[in-house]
Amino acid sequence: MSHDIFYIFIVSNVLSALALYLCAKRLLKFRRRQKRSFTFKSYPIQKCQLEDVHPCFAQDHLGPNPNSAVYFIGGEGVEASLSDRETWVVAALAKFSKRIFEFGTCSGKTSHIMGMNLPKEGRVYTLTIHPSQLEELSFENDDDRLHENIAKEEAKFDTFYYSDLSTSEKIEQIFSDSKQFDETKFKNSFDLILIDGAHTRSYVMSDSRKAFSMLKKGGVILWHDYKPEAPDVFSYLNELASELPLRHISGTDFVIFQKAS
Ligand SMILES: C[S@@+](CC[C@H](N)C(=O)[O-])C[C@H]1O[C@@H](n2cnc3c(N)ncnc32)[C@H](O)[C@@H]1O
Repeated sequence: MSHDIFYIFIVSNVLSALALYLCAKRLLKFRRRQKRSFTFKSYPIQKCQLEDVHPCFAQDHLGPNPNSAVYFIGGEGVEASLSDRETWVVAALAKFSKRIFEFGTCSGKTSHIMGMNLPKEGRVYTLTIHPSQLEELSFENDDDRLHENIAKEEAKFDTFYYSDLSTSEKIEQIFSDSKQFDETKFKNSFDLILIDGAHTRSYVMSDSRKAFSMLKKGGVILWHDYKPEAPDVFSYLNELASELPLRHISGTDFVIFQKAS
């Protein structure tokens, strides 16, 4: 008899655990589908046009303003490249920035383009994890697993697009896990900050907090990959937009924040 009770106890526990597992799985699937359902809806963050980003983009009846001319290289064949329109935005903003910080170097093509467009005395700091530092990554349980793997796969560069070019004199490469990077020595010092490192919730939150503390008055933060396919970036920015005046730049995956002067 006591054996029967024991077996019933075991079987009912196993069944409860199985039911819990299946419920959790369904919930996670539902959550993922909810995030992706934005694909056919307008995104929550209000759109802005390029001319709202900087006066150099103001157009007349002939088209783009000559002040928006930049040194440019297209993204074909470049790993994790910005689109050509996004590159134009970054390159044009770089022309009016003395100090730039980039989270996530990857090939270094964007760092090079920013370096080419900077004013003479300008400087780009670009931070990325070195392939030998992968064990320093610290993801959390609710971080998006797909983007955790992408962050690891993209951490394979230790020389960069600009390495043998003259722009390297204007670019300072920092190798670190971004959570371990000490931003305190750069307080209020950057005109332009591009957040394009690990696209998981805990990292985008940590990188954003650091960016806010490093941003100068009148400076700009750009987040890349504001889209449902990068669900942690997408949901974090949608939440942040309820506290701060964020704008989604039309025709790009950029969200922009401008600090008051
Ligand atoms: C999307 S790519 C950056 C693309 C680059 N900004 C461009 O425009 O060409 C992301 C980069 O962030 C780096 N990365 C990922 N996780 C990181 C972390 N925790 N700390 C520092 N860099 C990280 C990856 O190694 C990769 O080089």
